[in-house]
Amino acid sequence: MSSPLSDHPNVLARMEQIRHKIVVLSGKGGVGKSTVSANLALSLAAKGHKVGLLDADIHGPSIPTLFNLQNKTARQVADIILPIKCSGIALMSAGFMLSHPDQAVIVRGPMKIKIIEQMLGDVEWGELDYLIIDCPPGTGDEPLAVCQLIDSPDGGVIVTTPQELAAADVRKSVQFCRKLDLPILGILENMGGFVCPKCGETFPLFGKDGGRKTAEKYNEAFLGSIPIDPAIGVCSDAGTSFLEQHAGSPAAQAFEKAVGLMNEALSLLPSPTPATCSNTCGSCSSSGSCPSAKQN
Ligand SMILES: Nc1ncnc2c1ncn2[C@@H]1O[C@H](COP(=O)(O)OP(=O)(O)O)[C@@H](O)[C@H]1O
Ligand SMILES: [Mg+2]
Repeated sequence: MSSPLSDHPNVLARMEQIRHKIVVLSGKGGVGKSTVSANLALSLAAKGHKVGLLDADIHGPSIPTLFNLQNKTARQVADIILPIKCSGIALMSAGFMLSHPDQAVIVRGPMKIKIIEQMLGDVEWGELDYLIIDCPPGTGDEPLAVCQLIDSPDGGVIVTTPQELAAADVRKSVQFCRKLDLPILGILENMGGFVCPKCGETFPLFGKDGGRKTAEKYNEAFLGSIPIDPAIGVCSDAGTSFLEQHAGSPAAQAFEKAVGLMNEALSLLPSPTPATCSNTCGSCSSSGSCPSAKQN
């Protein structure tokens, strides 16, 4: 699917207002992508950044539940969809376009791409420091549409669990990123051991060091390991912020460390080559802000 941005001027205009676009992906379901996406967004927002969170999982949207907004429907004003604001974060999800939270989204590939295009281009994201994009598992329509429609997101965070089986799937996510020229900001291991609330000792329920070894194998950064903490599940189901309610816990510290490493990786990326001015005025970097375009 080729998707020049000139075909999606509304997506281009919206994305130009967003400093960092970060795609959260994995080869497997249930490894914690949505949990990681939500907590990345919450951590960045708590640090004073302007943050958006886009749920690109069309068939299984989790963001409404993670923010306890299952019954919310996005409002549309003329052609513009208003994001739902919660905890200082602008949220959008296919779940906010349904009349009932249990309604299934039964659509094929092209329709999913259309929904993602709408969520990128028609949603009033405004100026943001970060847009975090939570993808469904695998390397299918949704992550592909996100990467091609945005043209060049800053980078991807690959989430995995420590088991060999999950690590094997990371290979596909790594290949996906490399094929699409999406810089890998790092591999983040989730569920990397259970911290006993009584003795504080960590038990490696699903094996040990799978994420780190995988990152080393593919020569990518390792963003750390988030342990299993039952409070994460409780907060996810209740739609409350784990980072706020359990600040200082080993899992919260691991999330914060991952955010720090992700930001470090972002700061090391080469600055994007400015788009060539289509009006050849020579004084601006994009046709959207070209003074000669305004004169015409
Ligand atoms: N570190 C963790 N500790 C405990 N539960 C977790 C952890 N990470 C995720 N979970 C739980 O695992 C389930 C799957 O997580 P989710 O983020 O929906 O995965 P994915 O988006 O990859 O399918 C959810 O119930 C979530 O609350
Ligand atoms: Mg998910």
